[in-house]
Amino acid sequence: MTATPPEDPLDTQRLRRDGAALPLGHTLHYFEDTDSTNTRATELARQGAAEGTIVIAEAQSKGRGRLGRTWSSPARRNLYLSVIIRSPAAATPEFALVLGVAVGRAIRAWAADAKLKWPNDVLIGNRKVSGVLTEVARLDTGILAVIAGIGVNLNMNIDEFPTELHAKATSLAAATGAWIDRTAFTQRLLIELSNVWIKYRDGGFVALRAEWESLADWIGRTVEIDDGGERIRGQVLGLDEGGALLVRRADGSTARIEVGDVTVVDGYAPRD
Ligand code: BTN
Repeated sequence: MTATPPEDPLDTQRLRRDGAALPLGHTLHYFEDTDSTNTRATELARQGAAEGTIVIAEAQSKGRGRLGRTWSSPARRNLYLSVIIRSPAAATPEFALVLGVAVGRAIRAWAADAKLKWPNDVLIGNRKVSGVLTEVARLDTGILAVIAGIGVNLNMNIDEFPTELHAKATSLAAATGAWIDRTAFTQRLLIELSNVWIKYRDGGFVALRAEWESLADWIGRTVEIDDGGERIRGQVLGLDEGGALLVRRADGSTARIEVGDVTVVDGYAPRD
């Protein structure tokens, strides 16, 4: 692998041709550069874009992550994708988990040890390779649209991340030692997103819960969760039927956590 990542643009013709029949991915809006694909997708949803419409940009000037964080989005290195879903807002927290299963499956097709970290991260060797950000937009019609933004670090060199992320972030190329064909990865991801979406529509989150849990490697581990107020420490039991994290505290009581940042504290060692 050379030190310089490939600079090819995504092959939108291939993505449009192969995505045409997919429930998520049938319509592609492509930008060489934009502020955030989630912002573009929200505008499109307000203009009536159908469920399954996707927005992809080669670069984002204001890529955003959860909890007001910035998402590094240099040109033609990674995948920055948003998908429009029309739905009752109540389902939003579990969407990130459902779509995370698809991201996990796609990444595993390249790197076998990808793991899911509740609520929205995909890790390789304990470093973050992908995240999902779901946002809700209320349309004039009163209908709600969920905009699910997915960022996957594909061809970033570690030194291209902000310094504070050098020990915490990775890319599929850095993890596998080979440059990634971004178009092939995007095609695979759209297929997996559509597959999990069909399963979710037919069976709800419970239809995907076992797979989510099998892709997460810290069931049974001791974690600490910062939910913005209380700090909760306990052993991870799994997920409930709506995707909330269940944690057993030392006093035997069970905490049900819907939002928060989780840290594994029982000697979880980076594998690289
Ligand atoms: C996170 O882990 O905090 C979520 C990161 C989500 C990043 C993606 S990149 C495509 C979409 N557009 C954005 O501005 N954010 C999401």
